[in-house]
Amino acid sequence: MDLYAEEILDHYKHPRHYGHLDAPTMVFHDRNPLCGDEIELELKIEDGKVADIAFTGHGCAVSRAAASMMSEEVIGKSLEELRHWDKEDILDLLGIEVGPVRLKCALLPLKAMKAAVWGLTDDE
Ligand code: FES
Repeated sequence: MDLYAEEILDHYKHPRHYGHLDAPTMVFHDRNPLCGDEIELELKIEDGKVADIAFTGHGCAVSRAAASMMSEEVIGKSLEELRHWDKEDILDLLGIEVGPVRLKCALLPLKAMKAAVWGLTDDE
Protein backbone atom coordinates (compact mmCIF):
# COMPACT_ATOMS: atom_id res chain seq x y z
CA MET A 1 0.00 0.00 0.00
CA ASP A 2 1.37 3.42 -0.73
CA LEU A 3 2.51 5.61 2.10
CA TYR A 4 -0.26 8.19 1.79
CA ALA A 5 -3.00 5.58 1.62
CA GLU A 6 -1.55 3.95 4.74
CA GLU A 7 -1.54 7.25 6.57
CA ILE A 8 -5.15 7.94 5.58
CA LEU A 9 -6.17 4.52 6.84
CA ASP A 10 -4.34 5.12 10.10
CA HIS A 11 -6.13 8.45 10.65
CA TYR A 12 -9.43 6.80 9.73
CA LYS A 13 -8.95 3.96 12.22
CA HIS A 14 -7.40 6.10 14.96
CA PRO A 15 -8.74 9.61 14.41
CA ARG A 16 -6.84 12.27 16.34
CA HIS A 17 -8.87 14.76 18.36
CA TYR A 18 -12.04 12.67 18.02
CA GLY A 19 -14.49 13.51 20.81
CA HIS A 20 -15.69 16.61 22.61
CA LEU A 21 -14.06 19.58 24.31
CA ASP A 22 -15.07 20.66 27.82
CA ALA A 23 -15.93 24.24 26.94
CA PRO A 24 -15.68 24.88 23.21
CA THR A 25 -15.73 28.49 22.02
CA MET A 26 -17.10 27.60 18.60
CA VAL A 27 -19.12 24.65 17.38
CA PHE A 28 -20.19 23.98 13.85
CA HIS A 29 -22.06 21.10 12.33
CA ASP A 30 -22.05 20.29 8.64
CA ARG A 31 -23.01 17.45 6.38
CA ASN A 32 -22.17 16.20 2.94
CA PRO A 33 -25.47 16.44 1.03
CA LEU A 34 -24.39 13.71 -1.38
CA CYS A 35 -24.11 10.95 1.21
CA GLY A 36 -25.55 12.35 4.44
CA ASP A 37 -22.26 11.98 6.35
CA GLU A 38 -21.84 14.52 9.12
CA ILE A 39 -19.21 16.28 11.15
CA GLU A 40 -19.42 18.37 14.28
CA LEU A 41 -16.37 20.47 14.92
CA GLU A 42 -15.54 22.16 18.20
CA LEU A 43 -12.84 24.79 18.62
CA LYS A 44 -11.43 26.35 21.74
CA ILE A 45 -10.03 29.78 20.97
CA GLU A 46 -7.59 31.61 23.23
CA ASP A 47 -5.92 34.90 22.31
CA GLY A 48 -7.23 34.63 18.75
CA LYS A 49 -5.62 31.22 18.23
CA VAL A 50 -6.86 27.64 18.25
CA ALA A 51 -5.96 26.21 21.65
CA ASP A 52 -7.78 22.93 21.07
CA ILE A 53 -10.07 21.19 18.63
CA ALA A 54 -12.28 18.12 18.61
CA PHE A 55 -14.66 16.55 16.16
CA THR A 56 -17.32 13.87 16.06
CA GLY A 57 -19.60 12.53 13.39
CA HIS A 58 -19.64 9.75 10.91
CA GLY A 59 -18.05 9.72 7.52
CA CYS A 60 -16.00 7.77 5.04
CA ALA A 61 -12.26 7.15 5.31
CA VAL A 62 -11.40 10.27 3.33
CA SER A 63 -13.60 12.67 5.31
CA ARG A 64 -12.56 11.26 8.67
CA ALA A 65 -8.87 11.22 7.78
CA ALA A 66 -9.13 14.80 6.50
CA ALA A 67 -10.77 15.87 9.78
CA SER A 68 -8.12 14.09 11.83
CA MET A 69 -5.20 15.49 9.82
CA MET A 70 -6.70 18.98 9.78
CA SER A 71 -7.19 18.85 13.57
CA GLU A 72 -3.51 18.19 14.12
CA GLU A 73 -2.56 21.13 11.90
CA VAL A 74 -4.86 23.85 13.18
CA ILE A 75 -3.73 23.90 16.81
CA GLY A 76 -1.75 27.07 17.45
CA LYS A 77 -2.95 28.74 14.24
CA SER A 78 -4.71 32.10 14.37
CA LEU A 79 -8.30 32.54 13.23
CA GLU A 80 -7.03 34.97 10.61
CA GLU A 81 -4.67 32.34 9.21
CA LEU A 82 -7.39 29.70 9.14
CA ARG A 83 -9.78 32.00 7.32
CA HIS A 84 -7.36 31.83 4.40
CA TRP A 85 -7.14 28.06 4.25
CA ASP A 86 -8.49 26.58 1.07
CA LYS A 87 -8.91 23.21 -0.54
CA GLU A 88 -5.23 22.96 -1.45
CA ASP A 89 -4.29 22.99 2.23
CA ILE A 90 -6.46 19.93 2.85
CA LEU A 91 -5.43 18.13 -0.33
CA ASP A 92 -1.77 18.70 0.60
CA LEU A 93 -2.41 17.13 3.99
CA LEU A 94 -4.11 14.11 2.43
CA GLY A 95 -1.39 13.78 -0.18
CA ILE A 96 -3.49 11.82 -2.66
CA GLU A 97 -5.30 12.54 -5.89
CA VAL A 98 -8.94 13.13 -5.05
CA GLY A 99 -11.56 12.76 -7.77
CA PRO A 100 -14.68 14.97 -8.03
CA VAL A 101 -16.90 12.71 -5.90
CA ARG A 102 -14.33 12.32 -3.15
CA LEU A 103 -13.58 16.03 -3.16
CA LYS A 104 -16.74 16.77 -1.15
CA CYS A 105 -15.62 14.15 1.39
CA ALA A 106 -12.16 15.67 1.67
CA LEU A 107 -13.50 19.19 2.05
CA LEU A 108 -16.28 18.52 4.55
CA PRO A 109 -14.05 19.18 7.62
CA LEU A 110 -12.63 22.30 5.98
CA LYS A 111 -16.13 23.63 5.30
CA ALA A 112 -17.07 23.16 8.95
CA MET A 113 -13.82 24.72 10.17
CA LYS A 114 -14.15 27.74 7.87
CA ALA A 115 -17.74 28.31 8.94
CA ALA A 116 -16.66 28.13 12.59
CA VAL A 117 -13.76 30.56 12.23
CA TRP A 118 -15.92 33.00 10.28
CA GLY A 119 -18.41 32.82 13.15
CA LEU A 120 -21.31 31.52 11.11
CA THR A 121 -24.16 30.10 13.12
CA ASP A 122 -25.14 26.54 12.83
CA ASP A 123 -28.86 26.58 12.22
CA GLU A 124 -29.47 22.86 12.12
FE1 FES B 1 -19.78 10.68 2.84
FE2 FES B 1 -17.33 10.66 2.04
S1 FES B 1 -18.90 9.30 1.39
S2 FES B 1 -18.25 12.09 3.36
